[in-house]
Amino acid sequence: METISHTVCADQIPGSVVLAIYEYEPLLRFLAATMGKTRLHVMQDPLARTNVMAYRAGEALNWHFDRSEFTTTLLLQAAEYGGDLEYRTDLRSDGNPNYDGVARLLDGRDPDAKILRMKPGTLNVFRGKNTAHRVTTVEGERERMIAVFSYYEKPGVMFSPEERVGFYGRAA
Ligand SMILES: [Fe+2]
Repeated sequence: METISHTVCADQIPGSVVLAIYEYEPLLRFLAATMGKTRLHVMQDPLARTNVMAYRAGEALNWHFDRSEFTTTLLLQAAEYGGDLEYRTDLRSDGNPNYDGVARLLDGRDPDAKILRMKPGTLNVFRGKNTAHRVTTVEGERERMIAVFSYYEKPGVMFSPEERVGFYGRAA
């Protein structure tokens, strides 16, 4: 399987509307209430706090689980076709990796896989830790563009330089 990403990091879009939304205090309060947290904090990491990712014709994001408990995205621009979020709720649990179920999903034989078609402006708060998900292949001329917001329960969270190199190919 191949994964391609075109990623703009937070340090490349200073002063942008996307970052202003990311830091918008009422949004943080809304997300904390939605997720049942006392409060949420923006990430300190200059690169990872917010990413804008583009998917072009023929590109997709393969099946995976997320490391973080939940992910917050804002769709900025939809593809003409495809580029949908497909997900399979609770495919695994913290105590059970369910490899047979994962194999069935990868084979395209899981009847519980669902597709979410998002419109530009859709805010999606998604528990991806045990819910397998992917972005289906984009078709057509228009890129799918999505902002990914990272929030944490404790303040000041940073990636290590090694993680930044792993994700973005640069440490700073
Ligand atoms: Fe994910």
